[in-house]
Amino acid sequence: MLRPIPHNERLADVRYDIRGPLHARALELELQGKPIIRLNIGNPGRFGFDAPDHIREAIAHHLRDSEAYCHQQGLTEAREAIAESMQARGCAGVDISHVFVGNGVSELIDLSLRGLLNPGDEVLVPAPDYPLWTAAVILNDGRPVHYPCPPERQGLPDPIEIERMITPRTRAIVIINPNNPNGAVYPKPLLQQIAALAEKHRLVVFSDEIYEGLLYDGAQFHPMAPLVKDTLCVTMSGLSKVHRACGYRVGWMVTSGRVQAAREYLRSLDLLAALRLCSNVQGQWAIPAALRGPDTHSALCQPGGRLYETRAAMLRSVARSAHLRVVAPMGALYGFVGVDTSAMPEFDDQQFALDLLDQRQILIVPGSSFNVPYRNHFRITLLPEAAVMERVIDSIDAFAGTLAKGAKPRVAQVA
Ligand SMILES: Cc1ncc(COP(=O)(O)O)c(C=O)c1O
Repeated sequence: MLRPIPHNERLADVRYDIRGPLHARALELELQGKPIIRLNIGNPGRFGFDAPDHIREAIAHHLRDSEAYCHQQGLTEAREAIAESMQARGCAGVDISHVFVGNGVSELIDLSLRGLLNPGDEVLVPAPDYPLWTAAVILNDGRPVHYPCPPERQGLPDPIEIERMITPRTRAIVIINPNNPNGAVYPKPLLQQIAALAEKHRLVVFSDEIYEGLLYDGAQFHPMAPLVKDTLCVTMSGLSKVHRACGYRVGWMVTSGRVQAAREYLRSLDLLAALRLCSNVQGQWAIPAALRGPDTHSALCQPGGRLYETRAAMLRSVARSAHLRVVAPMGALYGFVGVDTSAMPEFDDQQFALDLLDQRQILIVPGSSFNVPYRNHFRITLLPEAAVMERVIDSIDAFAGTLAKGAKPRVAQVA
């Protein structure tokens, strides 16, 4: 008898449904020749979006300069452009020593928590969150403590509620602004209150701003870093979303605020960065071009722009639906749609997603995958064409109707 190979037991509490069992089922169905409408992942390149030419050209131009490892924190040229952009938003003290470039923000989420946490340390994470944050806290021996950002509050947190959740073990608070999945964009007074809380309780602030330029209907983005003076702030951003270049795997993080009090932590970050030598060099050449080049994203979020029109189509079709509700996303790339389950006592978001996939060939992500305690939401990406979105929402609504007690479902098929 072969002894089974054990695995890391911490993984028992870790999930990433965006590429989980539902995604595997979708691949199976595709192999059976059934085309799937994939609304599960914010991957612009898969929906016909191109990375801007000027950032592609920057990589091509520097390909020959990309063959050696670079500094563990990243290319000087890339870090200069990032430091410059932080200075321009009011963080005068930031220089290249405060910048770390990574293989996507994903790598830096893990690295930044690994450098901070000791077993049992707590991290305040929004619910809903981008689930890597919760996963990375668990994998680094921490305990995620989720603070609610419910639809009744337009997906925003309440600082008083957050403060009640702080214990002597709380080390950090994560902000995702604009939020994935619920599209909330945090008003400045709210950010100021959270910054004050973090300063009072000496928490590190992790501000994930990867969707910072993707804003709708006049929403204004306010960076967290300039508001945090008396504790450490770690800002994260990258090329994946705003610059539509997920596959380049380029992200960065910048430390600001009370960096003097965080010397040991910053040394740990540098050590962890060095242990992985450096992040991929060719992608880093895109950073100066992206940060100093023309704005290629704002028009996408304005009337006539692809994201704007798909978001409008989603809002229109949800508004006329019988069973769906949504808080209009003010930023990012998603709709976090609620199902009115009052006539569906058995409703379960995971089962709903699986049945929808099997019966309508539509792939969504169940809301509970984003660490919320309720099970009546799902996330869809705003990346498809508007006409597809409209048909998909109609079809999901009709499908939800088949679950409602006594309801006569309206059947709308997706072409
Ligand atoms: C909020 C948030 N943070 C981080 C990431 C990871 O991005 P990257 O491609 O830079 O690893 C994502 C990806 O979807 C995200 O939504």
